[in-house]
This record gives sequence, structure tokens and C-alpha cells, in this order.
Amino acid sequence: MCGIVGYIGNKNACKILLEGLSRLEYRGYDSAGIALREKEKFNIIKAKGKLENLIKKIGNIDEIKSNCGIGHTRWATHGKPSENNAHPHNSQDGNIVVVHNGIIENYLEIKTNLIKKGYKFYSQTDTEVIAKLLDYYLKESNNDILEAINKFMLRVTGSYALAIMIKSRKSEIYVAKKDSPLIIGVNKDETFIASDVPAILKHTRNVYYLENNEMAKIIAGKVIFYNSYKTQIQKELCHISMSLSSAEKNGYEHFMLKEIHEQPLSVKSTINSYLKENKIQFACLNESKIKGYDNILILGCGSAYHVGVCLKYVFEKLCQIPVQVDYASEFRYRESILSKNTLVIVISQSGETADSLAGIKLAKLKNVDTLGIINVVGSSIAREVDYVLYTYAGPEISVATTKAYSAQLVLGYMLAIKFATVRKKINEEQYQTLIKQIKELPYQIEQILKDEKNIQHLSSQFINTKDIFLIGRNIDYAIVLEGSLKMKEVSYIHTEAYPAGELKHGTISLIEKDTLVIGSLTQENVIDKTFSNMLETKSRGAKLLAITSNEIDCNICDYTIKIPKTNDLFATSLAIIPLQIMSYYLSVLKGNDVDKPRNLAKSVTVE
Ligand code: M6R
Repeated sequence: MCGIVGYIGNKNACKILLEGLSRLEYRGYDSAGIALREKEKFNIIKAKGKLENLIKKIGNIDEIKSNCGIGHTRWATHGKPSENNAHPHNSQDGNIVVVHNGIIENYLEIKTNLIKKGYKFYSQTDTEVIAKLLDYYLKESNNDILEAINKFMLRVTGSYALAIMIKSRKSEIYVAKKDSPLIIGVNKDETFIASDVPAILKHTRNVYYLENNEMAKIIAGKVIFYNSYKTQIQKELCHISMSLSSAEKNGYEHFMLKEIHEQPLSVKSTINSYLKENKIQFACLNESKIKGYDNILILGCGSAYHVGVCLKYVFEKLCQIPVQVDYASEFRYRESILSKNTLVIVISQSGETADSLAGIKLAKLKNVDTLGIINVVGSSIAREVDYVLYTYAGPEISVATTKAYSAQLVLGYMLAIKFATVRKKINEEQYQTLIKQIKELPYQIEQILKDEKNIQHLSSQFINTKDIFLIGRNIDYAIVLEGSLKMKEVSYIHTEAYPAGELKHGTISLIEKDTLVIGSLTQENVIDKTFSNMLETKSRGAKLLAITSNEIDCNICDYTIKIPKTNDLFATSLAIIPLQIMSYYLSVLKGNDVDKPRNLAKSVTVE
């Protein structure tokens, strides 16, 4: 989603802003812009489309003399992608410029009121309303900026991370936040603003996380924080240990391919972080808590939801505890009944997904314990939950998740094993066997990655395929849900994931000659059943591809991908790898923008 950068210091602000924006490209955007303070005026430059268009428009960057500015990549919500709607937006007299990430829900009502007061609008965005509302409050509060921002915060509903420049405040930038991420980095004589760490990592590792309803005055090398009562507050400076190279391609053509190959490491690092002397240890969770829950609700969106679907089977089998899984976007608008002994687990790579954040806030209102499986340290969801377990996937840049998904799975398995042993559902021998199987996973993933060329070759045969159906039962269903999403989002091929037994209740009517049907066949107890469902489609002209670690009649299938054998409960971690590789190569062969698929954003901060 939108990306914000800001800089104030002694260097070329334009260069720093553009570099920062390029590091935020992964978030997804359709226009970009910057505002630079140049002596008595703001130089605002915007362009539709890729950052290159903005760079071309700027011309010779070295000639620009400015040490202070704000920049933005916009993912359209209110108003189509256009130069006019691109940020920064400004007040009528040009006194205020603003960049914004989030959505102002009551912007129309505010806009109508401002129009009545004589304000004129040039764009369809909610952000222009922010610039004008701030202008109104600034005048009303005799140029007291904190007062104006504070009034704005009380007046609007929705989410925002804001960076604001005011003409008369030459050496200052102001920021404010609610439910959209914003970090502030400091160096000796410089201060940086960004939506995410990679944008400023090259310059500093010392950052502050702005919390909801906080604002700050940014000056070169210094930040002054205020709470919503305009009282000055102190905040803790955090050190970021993430390596810069982890946010670079390192010779791979795309981040997605790099991240697919980083999966053995992301899984291993996650295991090693919680496995001490062959025992699973979660410092934040005590055993009496674990014993006390009588059901679990898992929330997530997209791939994180698919991890939840898989974990439902794993928890129910290992721990015999009832588990529900819900899309966070659905959970937040239904009348859920949560008993006081419910544990709500939220899964999120970014930790900023608006629906997941809202879901977990709602769960907290119901007085139940909340636990997050999160990749981004210090993210909004990580700070919202009662207990946080981090995945150690490192920064994930490609919009399509791979290594974070794999890390979430393995951490989920470990949590289930911990629950099973504490609740005495497995004995020591079973516990040790499960741990051994978990520890083998990174090596088994490596083994599948060695088959990349064959899978690439196989993918090339499906380049003209219009529809793909992926089927499976139980955990195999969870696998195909994720495989199908991967294919859709990066290859743009229409795919459907179906519980294998459901196909004949309607969807089988879509099967025709040469429709590709991919069957995930990893669950020993239902392989024959799924295989029969695959044959039902073959009789209607489908071509069959089986992904399996078991012995099946390979002559019946048109294509087979063999994967190593693991405990059925952990099969998702292996069966997904060929599907990720296929999705990647189909995307490359079709000439798609693999890392930034059309219409998508990495972290979905709107509902
Ligand atoms: O950051 P999150 O894990 O909360 O994101 C959830 C989904 O938006 C995400 O998994 C999305 O479905 C990915 N594009 C899938 O590759």
C-alpha cells in the first residue's frame, strides 16, 4: 500500500527520498510524488505510474538544492491513479503539504463542510481533505501546529500515517499516526521518516516507532514526541539488526525467486529460535495458560489465513482442541461467540494488515487472550497482541509471500506440538519424533528446490492454460488453497482451489478437454479418495498433475511431482514449494511484473 518517506538534514533530500521510495516499491503503488523545501517555496513533483516516470520528470537530481522534503508512493483508494490524485497534496495557498497512508473514512462529510466554508478541491482524494482541514485548524488555532494536528486527529475517523510540512516552519516536518505504520530514524545531523525499515536502513539503524494518536516534530538529528494531549513524551530508541542485503536481490532476477530459495533458511531460523536443547520454548507463554484454553480461533488474511486452515488440522489432531479459522475481514463483522478460555491467534507477515489488526482489537474487547505469529518486529499487530511469537523469515519484499508463509507454518506446528505436550496429548517419544521431523523440513525443502529446473520445464507447458483446478482433502485442501492463490496473484491464470470431494457438487461442470487439475496427495488417509476425484475429472477430459510423496499410479496422471516424505501434518511445508515455483515461472514466462503483480499491495492497510 502507500509508502511514505521524509528527510531533513544536510544532504540532497531529493536523492534520499527517491532512494527511500524505491525501497518501498514492494508495497505496491500506481503513482509517486515528492515535495521539497526550496528556500521560500515547496517544489512539488508528481507522476503517474512507476517511480522512473517521477525520476524522469525531476531531471537532474544533483542540481536540486534542498535538504528537507517528503515523498510518497500511492496505491489508489479514493480517485483513480493519476498525477492529480498523486501525493503530496497541498492547501489552497500552498502553505501546507501532506503525504498520507491510510483512509479517512469521514472525508466526504468533512469535504462538504469545507466547501461550504469556501475551500476548493482539485482531486478526488481523502488526503487533499487532510491538507485543507489542517489549513482550517491552523488558522483557527493562530498557527499552533500541534493544536491543529490535534484537532484534526479528533475530527477524523479512519487510519493515517501523515508527514506534514508548513511553509513558515523551515526546519521542521510534523508527523502523526493512527493505525498505519510510521517509523522515524535518526542519525547525527539527520532525521528520516518512513513507512518501513528498508527505506532508511542505508542511513540509520536507530529508529523510533510512532504509536497510535502520537505526533512528533522532526528536526535535523532530533525528534520531539507528543501524546494526543500535546504533552511532550519520551520514547525508546530501537536498534534494527536486519541486514541491508536481506532487502536486496543478491543476483536473483526477482525477489520472489530469491525468497523461494531462502525458505530453508527462514524455516531453520524460526525453528532454531524456539528450540533450545531439543525442547520447544516460548518464553512468553506459561504452561498453566496453555492448559487453560478450551478452544482456539485463528485469524488472518490471504496466505496467512491459509496457514490458519492448515494449523486447524494440526492442532485438532495433535491437541484435540477445537479450532476455528476465520478471515479477519469476516470475523470483524460477525457476531462471534468467544468463551473466556478462547485463545485468538492472529497470523500476519507485515503485522500491519488492517483487517487482522481490527480483528485482534475486537477479540481483545471480548476479554480473551491474543497471540500473534508475526514477521515484522514492532509492527502494529505485534504491539497489539498479548503474546507475540516472531517468525524469522527476514524482510519479505515480493508481494507474493513464500518464505514468511513457510516460517508461519513451522512456527504454528511448533506451537501445536508445545500445546500437545503440555496438555499431555503426546508422550515424550512422540514429542521427540515430531521435533526430529520438524528439524528435517529445511533439508527436505532444499531437496525440492534442487528440482527447480524440472518444475520450470513443466510450467512452460501450462503457459496457455486458461483455468486450473487444484484439489485436495484436509491438509491437502489447505495446500491447494495457497497454491491457487500463488498462481492467481503472480501468473494471472484463473485457478480454483476445491476440497476434492466438493467438485462433483457443481464445479465439475467447468471441467473440459485439457483443463488442468492439480491434486495434492500427501494425506495418507484420503489419498485414494482424492485420487478418485482426480480420475472423475480425467474422464471428462482433464489433464492431471499429482503432487505427492506417496506411491500412486503415475501412469494415470499426465504429470507427477514427487516430494520427500514427512509427517502428514507437516506436508504443507513441502507440497507448497513446487506450486510456488510453478507460479513464479508461469509469471516470468507471461512477462508479468513478478514482484509487484498488478493491483496488489504487500501490506494491505485498508479494509
Ligand atoms: O502481511 P499479512 O501476512 O497480514 O498479509 C496477508 C495477506 O495480505 C497476504 O498473505 C497476501 O495474501 C499475499 N499477497 C499472498 O501472497
